[in-house]
Amino acid sequence: MSAEHSDAFVFFGATGDLAHKMVFPALQAMIRRGHLDMPVIGVANDGKDVSHLRARAKDSLEQHGGLDAGAFAKLCTLLRYVDGDYRDAGTFARLRDALGQAQRPLHYLAIPPSMFAAVAEGLAKSRCAEGARVVVEKPFGRDLASAQQLNRILHAHFDEKAIFRIDHYLGKEPVQNLLYFRGANVLVEAGWSNEYIESVEITMAEKFGVAGRGKLYEETGAIRDVVQNHMLELVASIAMETSVGQHHEARRDARAKLLQSVRTLDPSDVVRGQFRGYRGEPGVAPDSQVETFAAVRFHVDSDRWRGVPFHVRAGKSLPVTATEVRVRFKPTGGGALSSEVEPPDRDYYRFEISPDVVIALGVSVKRPGLSTVGERIELLAHHQPPDEMGPYERLLGDAAGGDPSLFVREDSVEASWRIVDPILGNRTPVFEYEPDTWGPAEAVRLTPAGGWRDPGAGV
Ligand code: BG6
Repeated sequence: MSAEHSDAFVFFGATGDLAHKMVFPALQAMIRRGHLDMPVIGVANDGKDVSHLRARAKDSLEQHGGLDAGAFAKLCTLLRYVDGDYRDAGTFARLRDALGQAQRPLHYLAIPPSMFAAVAEGLAKSRCAEGARVVVEKPFGRDLASAQQLNRILHAHFDEKAIFRIDHYLGKEPVQNLLYFRGANVLVEAGWSNEYIESVEITMAEKFGVAGRGKLYEETGAIRDVVQNHMLELVASIAMETSVGQHHEARRDARAKLLQSVRTLDPSDVVRGQFRGYRGEPGVAPDSQVETFAAVRFHVDSDRWRGVPFHVRAGKSLPVTATEVRVRFKPTGGGALSSEVEPPDRDYYRFEISPDVVIALGVSVKRPGLSTVGERIELLAHHQPPDEMGPYERLLGDAAGGDPSLFVREDSVEASWRIVDPILGNRTPVFEYEPDTWGPAEAVRLTPAGGWRDPGAGV
């Protein structure tokens, strides 16, 4: 039997950045698709009213993807606003009033984790938590201990089944397709192990810097911001077992099992970088040691993956904005057919996650002519436009429908913090790099066999 649909959408942090960038565009998209028809209640603490929230929604839609007049008009009819301090019982009493007859609200906490405890408690005491689901954003904690503490706080008022932790990479269509492509094709599945695969390489490059978010970024750095979550979820999507059936808990079990088999990092598995100019950003300490780039080498201690390094590099102020996975096969020797082949390279699968969505296969073919000489080509297996349904639309819809498949379970979140814990907190040196380059020269130490390949580079 499918879960009951939520009957009200409440979002804390309604006038904040995340709501502006992600939540309003997702709500408009859901309305356009006919997927949203319940009260939408924004909660914030800035002394404003619902007309201000409507104006904020309008501005958000104009800036992020475009305003659809019909859908916006509908959003305005659904929108309510509750103003007040998250520590004040009166705020939650007003929220209970605004919920009216709703029995199964979905509470989305688009607020800093430091406020989670107060809000969870306020919801419980005002009986707004009864029959409710709660959606929380990353970063889910700052390290293993704080993530465990946050889990305890949420579990005091919500069952794990009612907690939906967002990592928006799991809601991306190409990430789901990566998992599907592996599991659905015998050709791929047959070679998907340390018998054939030499290494896996993931690049998440962002051309922009910290874009005015310096103060926030000082609290996170690249490892907490994207490696502990988005990059490890990609590692899991590449390496987890897929033959576990469709049931969402079986999928989440497989994901957690994989993350639990990733070795805890050692400082020698990481090179941290900081782009020149970062320290001059507003809100950034003049002697900041926070990394804006990290190259990391993961090891998966399972029979299937033992001996295959997973190389990840992620950073800001790099030459392009693109995310790509490259799965490289062991060299075949290349010269079996001829001594004249071009220098042997590795066959590979290439998955472009963004900006385009591509699945490609790098192989050798014979160059036409009398002599047996090979050349490298890339077979484009699949190329589609970027997601039509953005990850937030998808994930908020799933949470409202009670489908947890694409949300991070408690055991996975704790496993990923356990993996990165020893490299947090500036325990390794940070090396400066020039903006628009691929990170500090020191990252060469963690170069995969065959060298890093830049996203979109093909053969
Ligand atoms: C967020 C990080 O989680 O993901 C940001 O906090 C990063 O720093 C963003 O820019 C990247 O998301 P996407 O979907 O644009 O790759």
